[in-house]
Amino acid sequence: MGHRRSKIQGLGMSVPEGGLTTNEHLTQWMDSSPEWVEKRTGIKQRYWAAKDNHSSVSSLALPACVDALSDANLDKSELDLIIFATLSPDASFPGSACFLQAHLDVPGIAALDIRQQCTGFLYGLSIADLYVRAGIYRNVLLVGAEMQSKCLDVSTRGRDMTVLFGDGAGAVIVSATEVEDESANSKESFIRSSHLHADGHFAKDLLWESPGTANRIWNPEELVNSPEAFPQMNGRLVFTNAVRRMPEVTLEALEANGMSAEDIDLFVHHQANRRINEKFADALGVEPEKVFSSIENYGNTTAATIPIGLFEARRTGKLKAGTMVASAAFGSGFTWGASIYRW
Ligand code: UT7
Repeated sequence: MGHRRSKIQGLGMSVPEGGLTTNEHLTQWMDSSPEWVEKRTGIKQRYWAAKDNHSSVSSLALPACVDALSDANLDKSELDLIIFATLSPDASFPGSACFLQAHLDVPGIAALDIRQQCTGFLYGLSIADLYVRAGIYRNVLLVGAEMQSKCLDVSTRGRDMTVLFGDGAGAVIVSATEVEDESANSKESFIRSSHLHADGHFAKDLLWESPGTANRIWNPEELVNSPEAFPQMNGRLVFTNAVRRMPEVTLEALEANGMSAEDIDLFVHHQANRRINEKFADALGVEPEKVFSSIENYGNTTAATIPIGLFEARRTGKLKAGTMVASAAFGSGFTWGASIYRW
């Protein structure tokens, strides 16, 4: 008899319609240059829904989820749990998983939001994997989705942060599978393990404070245009910690599975700045082509980055059945983590 494990068996993604925003477009709002943004971040364009007042992150996520279900050949009635990772929810409460559940029309199943920002997808993958392994659920819909354009400061004051971020959604179906061979050399497709960390001493180095109970400003008129109304980032500190933590946690995941970096066919990481991922390749001594990049077209889509990366890697033929994948992420919290799985 095999062991109950989980695998990713369906993928979908979406971006806001008509939201294409190039580096050139940015210069109408802020003092920046397309060359600076491309050279310092690797980003050429991103999608922003900012001007569309009728959309929400759950409505952006819906088509990605519908496509992931159809890709997995699964009827929505077979879902047991929705996990929604986002830092830009529809509302402070209830969570976007509940809004999405209503759009999908699957009342009754469990619906859970998680708040781990750039590491949200990997925290979600770990939760989904463990619920499935434990035999509690069979099919979990995990979506990472962001509509952060609606909260960014598009003036020159916010430019260091604003140019990085994009909107988008990526969804996967995590389903039960029976695995015979769990050894490091196994060719079977399943999630090996996830390794999660956080250090709240750095909570204020990348945060969106308002509206929040720690913030004294509750008057909307006072809030508008105050710096606290927008996300704040200590960019260099975040950068140096990402460069340290992403290789470190990947090595932890490799070691836990009796593997080395050579055993990984493709690294599909969080992408906040292309220079971070280049430094990752240097630190582990892996060929840069093995570190998948889609940041040039989407920017940093926070919790959506890894599933959008998986989607794009599969679309471009880099991710196929049997590919051994490692994913690492670092972001606000600080939070960081890594997962290893064979596709
Ligand atoms: O996903 C969440 C995790 N987030 C991250 O991992 C982000 C990590 N941080 C970064 O990616 C980088 O720190 C940034 C892209 C945010 C900034 O790049 P940097 O190379 O660290 O630039 P800097 O902040 O040291 O600024 C260098 C110069 C400054 O000008 P001066 O003081 O040297 O005259 C900035 O004012 O670049 C200027 N600058 C810009 N210039 C044009 C900052 N942003 C811009 C901009 N356009 N958008």
